[in-house]
Amino acid sequence: HCSNPAKPPTPLLAPVQYQPLMEMDYLDSVINESLRLFPIAPRLERVAKASVEINGLVIPKDMVVLVPTWPLHRDPEIWPEPEKFKPERFSKKNKEDIDPYTYMPFGVGPRNCIGMRFALVVMKLAVVEILQRYSFSVCKETEIPFEMDVQGF
Ligand code: HEM
Repeated sequence: HCSNPAKPPTPLLAPVQYQPLMEMDYLDSVINESLRLFPIAPRLERVAKASVEINGLVIPKDMVVLVPTWPLHRDPEIWPEPEKFKPERFSKKNKEDIDPYTYMPFGVGPRNCIGMRFALVVMKLAVVEILQRYSFSVCKETEIPFEMDVQGF
């Protein structure tokens, strides 16, 4: 229903090359903004290796600590108009100001996502390959805003 093959079929599609794909800055911003609004891991977990005190709060050894990615990604003090899809937040100029501990779609630290670079390339490749063949538009069946299933992922 929702995708119109509006473009006429192209007999020869330009093969997508790695370097130009990685230079598509706006595509990069769109992917980052999508992962801000919909991080597939809505929270991270760590286990304390030793007891520590942080800002007066004691975290005992072996305690599981949850890092709330989803709420951090939608905190209005960090992201003005958090519900709005605004890829410009991640433009080359703006993204320098983003604190890495407020944006963690792939986690952070030594145990962050090992597949991050691969996942980013594949998502970009998929978007480009699809847009080479199809255009998209909303239709009356399109859910706005769409309803998320309340699952772990
Ligand atoms: C959009 C795609 C993906 C997202 C958003 C994502 C996100 C994450 C997150 C949030 C973590 C936990 C990081 C942490 O606790 O700091 C993780 C871990 C991991 N991811 Fe991904 N991931 C993606 C794709 C992939 C792919 C394609 C692979 C493999 C090819 C992969 C393999 C792993 C592995 C093995 C871990 C565990 C790493 C460890 O514990 O040392 N992920 N991922």
